[in-house]
This record gives sequence, C-alpha cells and structure tokens, in this order.
Amino acid sequence: MASSVERLCFGQKYILAPMVRVGTLPMRLLALDYGAHIVYCEELIDIKMAQCKRVVNDVLETVDFIAPDERVMFRTCRKEKDRVVFQMGTADPDRALAVAKLIENDVAAVDVNMGCPKEYSTKGGMGSALLSDPEKIEAILSTLVNGISKPVTCKIRILQTLEDTVNLVKRIERTGVAAIAVHGRMKEERPRHPVHCDYIQAVAESVSIPVIANGGSLDSVKTFDDIEKFRVATGASSVMLARAAMWNPSIFRQQGALSVETVMDEYIKYAVRYDNNPFNTKYCLCQMLRDRVESPFGKQLHAAQTVAEICEVFGMPEYYSKTTAELEARRSSLQVNSDQPLSPKLEDDIITMAIRFERRDYPPQITPKMYLLEWSRREKLNQPLYETKQRTQDRAFQSTVIVADKKYRSTLWEKSKKSAEQAAAIVCLRTLGLPEGRVGEENSGLVNKRKRDDKQCAALDDKESVVRKRHITEPPLQKEGEMIRMTKVVNGACGQTTH
Ligand SMILES: Cc1cc2nc3c(=O)[nH]c(=O)nc-3n(C[C@H](O)[C@H](O)[C@H](O)COP(=O)(O)O)c2cc1C
Repeated sequence: MASSVERLCFGQKYILAPMVRVGTLPMRLLALDYGAHIVYCEELIDIKMAQCKRVVNDVLETVDFIAPDERVMFRTCRKEKDRVVFQMGTADPDRALAVAKLIENDVAAVDVNMGCPKEYSTKGGMGSALLSDPEKIEAILSTLVNGISKPVTCKIRILQTLEDTVNLVKRIERTGVAAIAVHGRMKEERPRHPVHCDYIQAVAESVSIPVIANGGSLDSVKTFDDIEKFRVATGASSVMLARAAMWNPSIFRQQGALSVETVMDEYIKYAVRYDNNPFNTKYCLCQMLRDRVESPFGKQLHAAQTVAEICEVFGMPEYYSKTTAELEARRSSLQVNSDQPLSPKLEDDIITMAIRFERRDYPPQITPKMYLLEWSRREKLNQPLYETKQRTQDRAFQSTVIVADKKYRSTLWEKSKKSAEQAAAIVCLRTLGLPEGRVGEENSGLVNKRKRDDKQCAALDDKESVVRKRHITEPPLQKEGEMIRMTKVVNGACGQTTH
C-alpha cells in the first residue's frame, strides 16, 4: 500500500548502523534525539519474523511484532516511523518479501544484511554468504523492490579486489535499490583491522545511488566532526556508525558529545518508557560502560535483573515508579474507556479476554478466584486448575485456568503470579456470566452459600479426619492461600476429584 509520507532519501545522512542487541527501540530513539538522521534496527531473521503477529500496543503507543513464544521481536513507534530502516537476514526472496510486507507500513525502508560474517548467518546462506551468490542477491533485492512501496537498501562488505567489489555494486544498483551501505572490510577481516576507505571511494564513484560509508568507528570517527571527515575521505554520500554510536550515541550531536553518564540516564528513561527487555537494556548499558564494566558500579549493574533494579543502580527509582504508574494508569483507563466491550475470543482452544486484575475493584479478602472456586464446587466440577507461565524479557506472568475442561486466559500479562491467576479467573467468570465478587456484587449469594455448603460437607465427612474437619469448619474466605489449602481438603472430604 502506498504511503502518503515522503520516501526516505539516503543522501547526506548520518546513520545509526544495524547492531544485533544494540539497535532496539531505546537506542534508536536516543540516536535520533542526538541528531542521527536515519536509524537501522538490529538484524532480524526472516524465518523468525515471518512467525510474528503485528500487535498495536495502545499502552506503550508502539507497534509490536510478537513471536509465538510472546517475545517482542521488533518494537517501533510513531517517533521513528519515517526514519527507521528494518534490517533483515534472509537467503530467500519469497520469505524476504513476506516479512517486508508484514512490516512495510510501520517502517521507512527495508534493508538486507549482506555483510555479517558470523557462522549463524552464513550457514543459512545469509549475511556475507550472499556476497558469493550475486544471482541470489539480485533475486532478493528485485523481489523486494518490486513487491513493496518502501525503499530497499542493502549493506555489504567489500570483496577481495576493487574490481569485484565495483562489479557487484553495479549489479546491485541495477535491482533498483535506493542506497547501498558499504562496510569497508572484507568478510575475513575483523573489526580491529583498518577500514579500506579506497574501496568505498571506488564504489561511490562507480554508482549513482547514495553510498553509505561504514567501518570508521575504531580509527576514524571519535567526534561529530570526524563523521564528516570520514564521509569526505571515502567520497561517500552518507556515513553509518556502529561502535562509536554504541559506546556513546550522542556522537551524532552537532554541539559535541555528552558524558556517557548523562547518555545512560537518557537511555534508561526510554527503556522504562518503552518497557524494554531488562537483559537487552543491561547489555546496552554495559557496552556504554566499556572498560568500566568490571568496576564495582559495573558489577552492581550486572547483578540487576529487572528494569526496576537497573533504575535503582542508576539512582532513578522515582523515575521508574512515576513512569510505570503512568503506564499502568493508561492501561486501566484504556480498559475502562474502551469502546469495544470486552468480549471473549477463542484463540487456539483457549477463551481469552484482555483483562487485568485490579485489587481495588474487590472488597478486602474477596477475590475472583474465590468466586470461581465457589461456583465450581457448587456445580460439582473439579477444582479450577491454574497453569502459569513467566516470560523472560520482563518476568511478567500469564495464567490459564481450566474449568469444566475449558481453558480461560487473559491476554494481558501481570507482574505477579497471583494477579495473573486472578485475571484468568475473571475471564472465566465473565465468559460464563457469573458474579466475580467486585465491589457492589457481594450479595450475589455465591460466597454466603459457600459457608452452608462447607457445613453440609463437614457433616458428611469422615469423623476420623480431625485435621480435615478442622479446616472445613474454619470460617471460610480468609486469605487466598488459606482458601486454597482449605478447599483441597474439602474436595477430598466430599469425594470430588482434584487435578
Ligand atoms: C554489537 C554489534 C552488532 C552488529 N550487528 C550487526 C547487524 O545486526 N547487522 C549488520 O549489518 N551489521 C552488524 N554489525 C556490524 C556494524 O553494523 C558495522 O558494519 C561494523 O561494526 C563496522 O562499523 P563501525 O566501525 O562503525 O563499528 C554489528 C556490529 C556490532 C559492534
């Protein structure tokens, strides 16, 4: 679908290079804030991206591409929409196109990585393996150029000879790509080896599309002014920085770089605001600390396991509390103000709703789980069975409850296992049209009836089972934990099977 936004141009630009693990949303936004004109995301592999679902995240105001295991593979937002280039790893034109179509309307351009020399890339025919297969390069790039409305670029390494390099880029130009980024090292060379400015210059002279010079971080580019010097030395139209920007993204700042301490604080703010994976956040901060990563401060950072703990290490707990409270409030108001009534959906064999458990909506000592348990007992069903999983990126929880052989789950992830179970219980109760114990619902009869049921149950109980009897005759609905313990005993006494 054609976009109304102007097509991204690659001439005269300073660019954040694609970097695995580094080029996630906080780093990209920070680089843009400091003056980068264009930002590339980390390389994302086509096979993984093809499995992702596009999800609009109203709370964060982002678009997320979520893998089947719930990992956020790519998160982007309006602020970068016209300047973010999606880089993919691919060796297959059709798959590349499928992924490009999936993300096309959320990014400014699509790039193909043809420079990565790492085995995980090359063994699948991706990255620098493509450099020795120009037919494949042509097939991938022309399929993308013809198949999507956004500009397509690629990033290569130089070949053994100047002549081969120039011949390859001329073939690439004929596919219709909008620009070509040239990392001035051969695939056998390591990042510490000097960059071949003469090769980049020869490429720049041989094609008419913008050439983006890359590879100057170690020896050429230390300051903002060096970026332009590197561009002139290579005769390129634009410059792309990886390591120099990873160590301090404020290198893009015309007025001069800021201290790494300031930059790290700004990075953390974006990481909290956009709910960035804590391990990814830590990784990027460690890159900025560089040789200080082994210092006592670096060790403290290393020990942090959550974004809250990272904020603690950096003396930013107030920022964390304030921002997460704002996000939470937005989440709640979106739920309350949603035009869409929360209706259950069937996903695979699970009934889902986007529901969050809000403790304040329930009177003290009353929870949806209690109500669900009460109802199940009354209906002589098995005790509700909760299965909870925790995802790695933010340690959030999601529960599924099984009631009468049907599964219920909230699509929203909770901070604690307890809340996740309560949310699953609410989904079940609302789907079945049952009261859930919210403030104002106390007179639904379910909970009061429970007391009577317990007494009946106790009367039928085996008189030898003193312990069980003691639990049964205890006043019900104390605390959640007690409730569960008690119910298990009651179920046993009444002959109901538990899972
Ligand atoms: C941490 C890190 C991750 C990288 N990941 C990618 C990547 O995902 N895609 C890619 O094309 N190049 C990747 N590169 C290579 C850089 O984009 C760049 O070509 C190289 O570092 C040379 O540029 P520099 O001298 O500015 O660092 C990565 C480099 C680093 C340091």
